[in-house]
Amino acid sequence: MALKWQEDKEYLELIEDLIEHEDVKSLENFVHHKVTNRLAHSISVSYSSFCWARRLNLNTRAIARAGLLHDLFFYESETKNEVGGRGHNYEHPRIACENAMKITELSELEQDIILKHMAGTTLDVPKYPESLIVTLMDKQCAIQECAGGFKKFIAKHVNRTKELALQLVAIQPNYESYLTYQGVDEREM
Ligand SMILES: [Fe+2]
Ligand SMILES: [Fe+2]
Repeated sequence: MALKWQEDKEYLELIEDLIEHEDVKSLENFVHHKVTNRLAHSISVSYSSFCWARRLNLNTRAIARAGLLHDLFFYESETKNEVGGRGHNYEHPRIACENAMKITELSELEQDIILKHMAGTTLDVPKYPESLIVTLMDKQCAIQECAGGFKKFIAKHVNRTKELALQLVAIQPNYESYLTYQGVDEREM
C-alpha cells in the first residue's frame, strides 16, 4: 500500500498508541501471505477498512483499531498447522483477540471485528457492518499481496531469461568459431 495512511491525521490519531506498541511493531518480523509482513498487512486491512467506514459513516475508531489488531498472533504462518484446536483459520482470530485485550480495551464491536474476520473460511457470521467490511478488506488485501508477489516472481524470471539470452548472444561468436574448428557447416545442423 502507498504511504497514504501515514499522511492521514484522522487515521493516525485513532491508532497512535497501538502503532507504537512493541507487540504491534513486532508483527513486522513475521512473513505474511509469503510476500509481505504481518504488520504491513494489518495496516493495509486497517486503513482500507477505515476509509470505507469514513465513507459510510460507520465507527471509524473501532474499525481502524480492530483492523490493526485482527492478526495479532506471534507464530510464523509456516507453522500454522501446528496451532491445534480447530485449526489456524478458527483459532488465530481468538488468539489475536486475547493478545489485543492485553494491550488495550476492546469494545464488543471491536471484539466482533477481530473474532469474525475469517468469516467465509469459518462458520462465523459478522454481527456488525464494520465486521463485514474488515473481513472483506482482509480478503482483498490478501489477494492484492499475493498478486503483487506473483508479479514480482514473473518479473524476476523474465529478467533472468533476458540475462540468459544476452549471455547466449555474447558467447555466439565463440560458438560459431567452435563449429568452424570442428568442421561443422551450420547449414548441416
Ligand atoms: Fe487473519
Ligand atoms: Fe489478515
